[in-house]
Formats: sequence, structure tokens, C-alpha cells
Amino acid sequence: MTSITTMQPKGQVFPPPTAFQSQALIQSVAAYEALWNYAKDNPEAFWGGQATSLLTWDMPWGVVRTGTGMQSQWFTGGYLNASVNCLDRHLETQGDKLALIAEGEPGEVWRLTYRDLHREVCKLANGLRSLGLQQGDVVAIYMPMVPELVIAVLACARLGLMHSVIFAGFSAEAIRSRNADAQAKLIITADGLYRRGAVIPLKETVDHSLEGASSVEHVLVYQRTGASVSMHPGRDLWWHDLMAMQSETCAPVSVPAEHPLFLLYTSGSTGTPKGIVHTTAGYLLGTALSHRYIFDLKPTDRYWCTADAGWITGHSYVIYGPLCNGTTVVMYEGAPNFPDWARFWKIIETHGVTQFYTAPTAIRSLMQQGDAWPEKHDLSSLRLLGTVGEPINPKAWMWFHEKIGKTRCPIVDTWWQTETGAIMIAPLPGAISTKPGCATRPFFGIVPDVVDHHGVPVGENQGGLLVVRQPWPSMLRTIHGDHDRFLSQYCQVVPGDVYFTGDGARRDADGDYWILGRVDDVLNVAGHRLSTMEIESALVSHPTVAEAAVVGKPDEVRGEAICCFVTLKATEHAGGELKKQLQFHVVAQIGALARPQEIRFVQALPKTRSGKIMRRLLRDLAADRPIAGDVSTLEDLATLDTIRAASTEDDT
Ligand code: PRX
Repeated sequence: MTSITTMQPKGQVFPPPTAFQSQALIQSVAAYEALWNYAKDNPEAFWGGQATSLLTWDMPWGVVRTGTGMQSQWFTGGYLNASVNCLDRHLETQGDKLALIAEGEPGEVWRLTYRDLHREVCKLANGLRSLGLQQGDVVAIYMPMVPELVIAVLACARLGLMHSVIFAGFSAEAIRSRNADAQAKLIITADGLYRRGAVIPLKETVDHSLEGASSVEHVLVYQRTGASVSMHPGRDLWWHDLMAMQSETCAPVSVPAEHPLFLLYTSGSTGTPKGIVHTTAGYLLGTALSHRYIFDLKPTDRYWCTADAGWITGHSYVIYGPLCNGTTVVMYEGAPNFPDWARFWKIIETHGVTQFYTAPTAIRSLMQQGDAWPEKHDLSSLRLLGTVGEPINPKAWMWFHEKIGKTRCPIVDTWWQTETGAIMIAPLPGAISTKPGCATRPFFGIVPDVVDHHGVPVGENQGGLLVVRQPWPSMLRTIHGDHDRFLSQYCQVVPGDVYFTGDGARRDADGDYWILGRVDDVLNVAGHRLSTMEIESALVSHPTVAEAAVVGKPDEVRGEAICCFVTLKATEHAGGELKKQLQFHVVAQIGALARPQEIRFVQALPKTRSGKIMRRLLRDLAADRPIAGDVSTLEDLATLDTIRAASTEDDT
């Protein structure tokens, strides 16, 4: 793989702080390596042992793994229920422990013990059953980050219903396409949510998504803001009305280990999002085990992950992993800068947060606001920090380390994906030295490698494709309704029966992995995955657009910004008004997170003789840097000059 150039900064190395190390679950590199090697050489014994000690089974499994390679099944013959693992089994030993401490953006605080959460989940599950939902049905969830979202997720799990959580920033069109693909029967939503002091409507967006034919039979509406909404008789129900009628106990549905737990749509390198399918036992095991060791869990912890449950991080590290481990989870509904930039630091002080897990983009925006905000608050409860979603630049890492962790908290830079279900590469905080910007070592049972396009391992410090050599229980099983796409995108890109991640990486002399970003057509904007093709399809669906090519452009806070090169149909005229229209159109098609930062109108797109758009050149143009590499395959060299000229015009 010669096209990945890597920088090899002589960065600093931070050994685990001594005070942290002496109380950690894993306290040395030797202990980590011994367990990692054991798991690599005896995967079935390792995963089987962990599944026995971490999960509660209704019926034990017969075999740890069946099937071959990346198409393995795990714990065949075993039966369990995910909500029992997250709730019921804690009732006897710690029923009165807080499960959730949740803050609404306006400032209200909800505290739910494990017993409270269990009761609410049972009531909602009974309500869902009364609506006729049955094991295997799909329920879409489009909710704010309030406890009812967790209740909805676990109520689905209690009945063996698959949830499909849709991030509350997605548009009506995005909800419609996801529900059509999943054939969702119910959608659970709220009247609205609070964001930067304003009420954002949710029910209204859901109503738009249901115009025309839809598989959705009912809409269940949680009253969050009191905003007025229209209720469609026979179809729509209020959450409080349904809950008022329900008993506080509900027998869980015991499901086979491989029963799908949920669908979560994510962007790939084509125009349509893919419904990633995760199963019950393997996923729970992966999230619980990684959460316990990577966050070095203690029974008294107050753990806060800022991710929204609309993304995989919220599924795995707000809900399933922490609750399976009986942790007290802190949740927050709103924006980091409401009412001011001290909000996160205030939450940490108020609730005594011990672990704080967030995204580099959030760290960069918080850093930009200056040190006065965190200095106003007592952050001494913190003992560990974590990042996820994109590579963290060393400057942001150092700020996090010094100003928030006060140099005493290890930082776990966790690399993983929607598809992997759980963290794959991250430093075990009491054992592995950290390096700013480096995800370091693979977790137990995970065997990554860096290879070229032929599947041959590349040398130390050489850039290549990041693959995983052995199957692991929390990996996706398929793409909903498209097993061929699963095979072609993950299992057949690189020869050998390996899982292809879509990321580039290099491994240094210490065996530490550095993630180099995506090698496919996926953008990472503020830690969110967006497909360039998805945005291109949205653009060309506008009547004025002939062709569009979308690339990422470096952005200081958001990691990447969306830059679109657009050619118009012959009769159309470029202009500022049309730019606004196109931005609006993309937002309506996908959601505000996909709003293009730049739209450049051009006469033609640079293409190869075979008609492929040369995005590599557009990336250079977008970043205003000289074109690197070979342009000999370009069909018409003059195109570049006209694009460059158009871009200059644009900037002035
Ligand atoms: O490119 C990698 C990047 O995010 C991608 C996965 O995105 P998604 O499925 O939305 O999941 C995000 C949260 C798990 C990866 O292919 N990524 C994720 N974590 C890191 C990262 N890149 C560098 N360092 C990370 N720690």
C-alpha cells in the first residue's frame, strides 16, 4: 500500500500515572500481554470463560463458536435476554444503586435506580406487547437523550424486538428510508427536544416521514417539551397514556444467543446507508468486557459518555456495556455550550463524574473557548478520560490531559466502528503507555494487522490497510437485507479470511497502532460518518444539478468539512441563492449534520478516461494545496485549471 504516506512524529510517551496504576484492573504490560496472547491462541476458551462470568444465561450454550471465519456464530444453543442482563440481575444485589443520573438541557435532573429503571422498562414492554408487537419486529426510536430513550431501547430488548435508533438530527427523508428498509412497525418519538435553549420538533419530522405508504402502524409520543403536536387518531398514542395502564412486571422473552438485538444504520461507500445487524449475546459480551477493562470500572464510579444513543457509541457505552456492568451512568440531553461553555465541566462537578468519554471534535471546540471555563469547576472526581470517533490531534490531546485530567488521568483513545460493536484498539489505562494521537494496542481477543491490497503484512511504521484476522463475538453479522454487501465490503476486499475495516493504519516499533483515517469514500465530520456518495445522491436529486463530487476538506474543529463540486444542467445559472438552496436540499435529504460547508460550481469534474471521478485531485483542490501525484490518467488536463479558476473566483 504505497498510497498511504505516514508521518512518524517523535511524540511524547506517557506511562500510566502511578496512583492510577496501583489500583487498576490490569496493572502491567506483562499482565496485558499474557491475557492478550492467551485470548489469541485460545479464542474459544477465552470468550467462553468471559461469557460465563459476565453474562446471565437462561440456558447455557453448547459450543462457543460455529461457522467459519468472519461468518461465525457464537454461543449456539444458549438463551438469554439483554434487558435481564442490564437490569433484573442487579436487582437483588444493587437494586437501589443509581443506574441513571440524567440532566435535561434546561437543568432538571432525573435519578433512576436499577429498580426504577427495571419497573419503567417492564411497563413499556407491556405497553409494546399490548400494541401487538412480537419477537423479531422492528421498532424505530427517534428520541432526545433522556431516560425514556434508554427505557425504550431496553423495553424492545425485553421482548426480543429489534430496535433501530435513528439519531434525532436526521431528516424526515432519512427516517423514511431507514424505516422502509427495516420495515419498522412502530416509531417511538417525543414532541421535541431541547437544544441550545430552543425546542427542536421531533414528532412533526416523524409525521413528515410517514406521508405516503409506510410500514409503521403506530407512533408512540413521549411528552418532553409540551410543544403542541398533532396526534393522528388510531395511529398515534401518548407515552404517558400507554404507561398508565401497565403492570410493573413483565416476563422477559428468552432469545437465542444469535437473535438480532438491533439494527443501526451507518454510512458506507455507496449512496444508501446500511443497516448493521448486531446479535444479543456476542454484542453484550463485547461491550460489557471492553467497558469493564478499558474504563477500569469500580463499583462506585459515575461514568459519563457524552455520545448520543443515535450512534453506536451511545448503544454500547451509554446503555448496554455500562448497564450490563451495573454502573451508574450520567447522561445529558443538550449542547455543550448551553447556557455557556462551562456546562460539561459543571456536570462533572455536580455529579462527581469519574470517567469522561467524549469525541475529539468536542474537545477541540471546548479547547477553543479557553481555559477559564474548566477552571471554574472542581474536576477532581475525574480519574480517567476517553476519546472516540476520529483521530485526536496531539494539541487537543495535551489540552485534555493537562487542563481536564490535570495530568493524573490516563486518556484512552478508543478505535472501533459501528460494525465492530465494541472497542477494538485502546490502551488499557493501568498497563499501556499512551502517545498523543495513538490508539495503541488491541483489546483482548482482537487480532488486528496492517496489510497491503494483497493481504500481505506491511513492515513496521509503514502505512497499510487495517484488518482484523480473527472473528470476535461483537462483530456485525450482516447488513440487513443484503448479505452480499456484507461479504463484499468487509470480507472480500482484502484476500485471506480477514475483516476489512475501511481504515488505514500503521504499527510502530512498540506494536502500537496509529489510525490514519478512512481509505474509502467515507467522511468523518465531527466524529460522524457520512458517505460522499450519499451526499452526492442528495445533490443530484436536485433538479438543477447535473453531476456532483463530494470530498472532505481539513477543518480545525470538525476534523473534516464537506466540500461539494457541482456541475449544473446547461440551462441553470450558478449563484449564491442556488448554493443556499442546495445546502438546504442536502439537509432536507439527510439531516443538518450533512450540511455542505462549501459548494463550488464547476464546468466539469476531473475524470479518468474510464469516467471515474478523480476525488484525490478534488481533495487537493478543496484543501487549497498543490495537486500531488500522477495526473496522467486524467482525461482532460484543462479541467483542473478551470476548476482551480472557479475556486479562486469563489474565494474572492
Ligand atoms: O475511521 C474510523 C473512525 O471512525 C470510523 C467508525 O465510525 P463509526 O462507525 O461512526 O463509529 C464511531 C464510533 C465508534 C472508523 O472506521 N474512528 C473511530 N474511532 C477512532 C477513529 N479514528 C481514529 N481514532 C479513533 N479512536
